[in-house]
Formats: sequence, structure tokens, C-alpha cells
Amino acid sequence: MNAWVGKEISRVDGPAKVTGQATYAAEFQLRNKAYAALVTATIPSGTIERLDVSAAEAAPGVILVLSHLNAPGLPYAQPKKRPVVDPQAGERLHVFQGPEVLFDGQPIAVVVAETKEQADSAAMLVSVDYRQTPPAGDMDPSRSHAPNEAVAKSGRPGEKGRGDAGPAYRGSAVTIDITCSHEREQHNAMEPHATIAEWDGDHLTLYDKSQWVDNVRQEIALIFGMAEDNVRVISPFVGGAFGSALRTWPHVTIAALAARQANRPVQLELSRRQCFFSAGARPKTLQRLRLGADHDGKLQAIIHEAIGQTSVYEDYAEITLDAANSLYACSNVATRYHLVKMNMNSPCPMRAPGTATGVFGLEIAMDEMAEECGLDPVEFRLRNHADRDEEKDLPYSSKELKACYALAAEAFGWSHRSTVPGRNRNDRWLIGHGMATAFYPSHRSSSTAKATMFANGTVVVRTAAGDMGPGTYTAMTQLAAETLDLTPEQVQFELGDTDMPEAPVHGGSITLASVGNAVIAACRSLREKLGNGDPVAAMRQLGQEAVSADAESKPGEEANIYSSSAFGAVFVEVAVDSRLGAVRIPRIVGAYDIGTVVNPKIARSQCIGGMVGGLGMALLEQAEWDPALCRVMNANLAEYLVPVNADVQHLDVLFAPGEDKIFNPIGSKGVAEIALTGVAPAIANAIYNATGHRLRNLPITPDKLLEVL
Ligand code: MOS
Repeated sequence: MNAWVGKEISRVDGPAKVTGQATYAAEFQLRNKAYAALVTATIPSGTIERLDVSAAEAAPGVILVLSHLNAPGLPYAQPKKRPVVDPQAGERLHVFQGPEVLFDGQPIAVVVAETKEQADSAAMLVSVDYRQTPPAGDMDPSRSHAPNEAVAKSGRPGEKGRGDAGPAYRGSAVTIDITCSHEREQHNAMEPHATIAEWDGDHLTLYDKSQWVDNVRQEIALIFGMAEDNVRVISPFVGGAFGSALRTWPHVTIAALAARQANRPVQLELSRRQCFFSAGARPKTLQRLRLGADHDGKLQAIIHEAIGQTSVYEDYAEITLDAANSLYACSNVATRYHLVKMNMNSPCPMRAPGTATGVFGLEIAMDEMAEECGLDPVEFRLRNHADRDEEKDLPYSSKELKACYALAAEAFGWSHRSTVPGRNRNDRWLIGHGMATAFYPSHRSSSTAKATMFANGTVVVRTAAGDMGPGTYTAMTQLAAETLDLTPEQVQFELGDTDMPEAPVHGGSITLASVGNAVIAACRSLREKLGNGDPVAAMRQLGQEAVSADAESKPGEEANIYSSSAFGAVFVEVAVDSRLGAVRIPRIVGAYDIGTVVNPKIARSQCIGGMVGGLGMALLEQAEWDPALCRVMNANLAEYLVPVNADVQHLDVLFAPGEDKIFNPIGSKGVAEIALTGVAPAIANAIYNATGHRLRNLPITPDKLLEVL
């Protein structure tokens, strides 16, 4: 028996990626391909009065220019049920269907030309006059509204809770009342969004950057009023996405429309700047937290309020307050979630959407409460450990959070920290230590896969899943090899094509628990067909070219009687330059309870990636919003700061032992998004320990520190 689960094998797609053999959306070579460039609105609100495309049409190489003046009407049919990746209220942006402008950066025309340079150049020649109306540019809480019923049904209600939090808070011996915030953040994946559309009669093929090819097919079929069978979507490699490729964005529709009108394959690649307003963002969120505890440090009340920003055309809502509702034991919880409509493009999920935000607020509040109660932050959390999910009133299918605290605290040397803030100084550096809990709910969706064994003893496993970088190819290859008692070299795993068996969204950290079990089921069924012995020998005996098996795997009753979540503990050391306000992060130690670790090497990569993302959230990332222009002013990678190598020092990842076989047969709870949660509050808490100042508005930039130091 070959045991591949738990092995540190290197990425099976690594050589293809580093040698340029992996084909990304904009790299498919098609005969007669033309190139498109967007013209985007330069006002946030109003209507187009005049759009003059004559100069663009006359420019060299231009094939056509499409806008609301000449684009055909599109059906934009509604799905029976909205995809989970779409906002549940409002209406998706329609392209070229009218003169209305809803945000700065909205596509208002597309130029198609023989080369990309000709298209880009001609797009600059389109001249537009607008009639501007007053935009909503401020994130003004007085304009906020509660999510509607459809949004509430998706688990993002205006109000949630249990017990009687108001009186319990007022009656508590120890209380805090704080506000905190983070700015709008951008995904900025390495690969820009791109689509190539090619029509063959009424059949459309899309080469697209996508985390969910089946959703692209459904969405485009609805928009164009086509049968889904006439749309094929191909996305074998994705160069990072972080949630930005979950939805089917308007540029995909534009590429398909342009290709149909031009009667040629058309490639539309967004510029880095266009990615800032064409593919979502993490919404800026304002939070207020009131916590109450008794003299023993037992939480009596949690009141957590959050206001997120959204567009004028959709209500994008997040599960920002789920942590407040379930992460700690507390009989009295009240949460309130509101949205503010603004003239901006709709936000969308970004790496641990809502959870990273809510955990940030809750975990700095927990740090402050621990101090008020005179308790060590770890001890305070242990006293309030939730043995069961009190919100759902269900037991956890597994929970090793206490082990995470112990493992990470030990590895970090937490007991040696200075508990008095501002006392640990090394020359001009103020040294601080802080910690936070990490949390991300585990989900599993129904998924299908097909396994085929060939006469030469190799196996091909296919499913329409995605791999935006976490290692789907590798983990699935390991699961197939283990189930079939083969080596990974004998297995070829393929994904990212709607011609393959249906798979759920590659997001929400669900791929391993969902697709992984379908891969195992298909391989098991194949093995049964081959007599359950040595499959290669059985194939030889059968004398057939190929033998295939399909399988579906889905959650069962356990999903109704257990709550499933991944947990973790993050410990951080910071060094704050007392003269310059700069923050260095010498080390981060995280311990994670993610159930079965299928590949410790790629799981660790997921976690260090999350830590780096969390570092960016804490110290660097912010889309600078001009409320008058309603525009992101730093829509480029020079001024939108993300951590670089020099910002990252020692990162240590530990996994709590355990497997969650109740949650799913593999026992994995998902490792991806959890690693971003907890990092920003641990850094903020460490900065307090270093300086004695609580900074609660992210990112914690040198100017904010210099003001208080
Ligand atoms: Mo993740 S934000 O579900 O890609």
C-alpha cells in the first residue's frame, strides 16, 4: 500500500509553471485572434451625453468599437437561484445596455483591434461628455441600511444573537467599548484578469481566469440567453485570485460580445489599473465592539456592530459577525450588520471575506478585555473557550483550538514576554509580543469526478475544479494515487474545464473537503470495477483500452448535527522603530487545527501565504479613496503597498494533530483562508505591547504611530 496522504511531495504542476508550460487565460494561441481594450467612465455617477468613437474607429488596426450606442441588447436572464459567489440583493452590472454611469471605472465602450497596442491606443481616442449627478462618495454611517431578507437568508442578517446582551453588558463588572476599521483592500493577484472568447456558430468557448468555470458557463448562458451546453469554459491555471475570480465579471461578457460582433476570437486582458475597479475589492469596514466580563474573566456580553461598504447597484454583504456569534462561550450576544451604498464597483470576497475583518475586531477587543481583567491573553481566551457552537447549538465535529494555543505559545516562548507595555526596548526599537485566535468556518459542497485507467497503467482523473495556487493538482494527485495504490507519477489530474464533471466553487477553502472526496470516490469505484486488487495487473488481464468510473460525493446528515470549523492561534513579535514609526515583524508563529494535513509542504505554503497577507492587512494595504472623485487614487502596484521579501522574516507553521472524519472522509477541514485571520489583530496587539498605544485602524502605518509615540 502506497501512503501518499501526509507526504511532503512537491507541486506536480511546479515544473510546468516555472518553465512556462502552464497556459494561463491570456496565453492561449488562437488563429486570427484580435485584441480588445476597455474605455472606462471617468465620472462616478450620471449619464453619457455624447460618445464620439470616430477617431478610434479610424485608428490603425481597429476592427470595431462597441458601446451602448451600437451594442445589441442582451437578455441578462435571472438564475433560478443566485450563485453563492454573487451578492444576494441588487442587480449585476449590465454592460453597454444604456448611458447610465454608476461608478468611476465602469466599462462604457470596448475597442477591438489587430494588436493589443492598437486597441489600447485607440481606446484613448474615444471622447465622452457626461451629465454628472451628485455621487455617494462618503462612507457615511447615517446612510447605512440593514441587509434585505435575501441577504439575511444567506447568513448575513442585520441582527443576530442570543440572550439579552444590552442589560448583560451594562451589568458587567468589566467592560470595554471600542471602535476599529480597515480600509478597502485589493486582491492584486499576480496574473491580471483576462478572457479570450471564441465563437463557432452559436457555440462559445471562453478561456478565462476563473475560480469556478461552471459558474462562468451558467452566468454567460443567462446573459446571452443561450443553452449552457453551448458554452465551454477553460481555466487550467490561475495565477492567484484570492476571491477576485469567484464571480463572472462584466469583462467576460464584453469579451464574448466583442468576439461575436467582430466574428473573430477576441482577447480582453485587464490592465493592473483596471483590476482595481473591475474585479471587486475587500470592502472598507467600520466596527464597534462592546464586551462585558465578570471579575473571573468570564465573558457576560458581546455586542459587535459592523458597517461595510457596497455599490449602488448591489448589496454585497459579508459574514463579518460570525466570529462574535460563535468563537467564544457567552450567553448574551448581539450583532448588527449594516451596509452603506457608494458610487463604487461592487466589492467581493477577498481571502477569508468577513471572517478576517470580524476576527480582527473581536481579537483586539479580547486583548483589551484580558488586560482589563488582569489576565494573560491566552488564559483569558481559555476561560472563554467555546466547547460547542453556541450560536448553532451544535457540537463541533472536531476542535483542537486549545492544542493550538499550547503548541504556538510554546514554540513562540510566550511565557517570556514582558507583560508591561512599552518596557521592552532594544536601542531605538520597541519590542512587543501579541497573539490572537484564528478562525474560519469549514464547508463542504457536493462534487463529482471521473477516473479513467488506461491499458498502459496510468490513470487520468478529471473534475471541473480550480487551482488558483493552493495546490489542488498536487493534493488530488496524492489522494488518487493513495486510493488506487499507484505512485503520483502514474496519475494525471486535470481540472478547470466545463467539459469535465461538475465541481463547486474553488473558494471558501472547500476544495479539499469537497472535490477531494469526489476524487477518492471515483478512484474507489474504478478500483472496484478492476476487482479491488492491483489495478495495473487487472487492466492487463482485462485487455481493454480504458476503464472509467464516475462518482459524486456530498455532505450528509453530519452537516446538520455538527458544526465544523478550522481554528488556530497566531503569535507575533514586532519591533517598532521609536523614531520613524516603522514596524518590523521578526517572527510569526501560527498553530492550526485543520484536521488531516494531506501535504504538509503545500499546507505550510498556504499558511505562510496567509501570514504574509495578514501582515499586509495590518501594516500596508489600503486603496486610497478620494470621496470627491469616488476613485481609488493608488490603483497601481507602486503605491498600493503589499509585503515584499524584506518585510517578511521568520514564519513558523505548526499543525495540531487530529483528523475530522466526522466532517468528511478525508478528515480535512480546509487550509487556506484561516491563515489570514488572526494575523492583523495579533500584530495590533503586539504593537500595543511594544508601545503602550492601541492602534485600531488598519493599516497601522508609520504616520499613525508617529502621532502617538
Ligand atoms: Mo476565497 S475569498 O473564497 O477565494
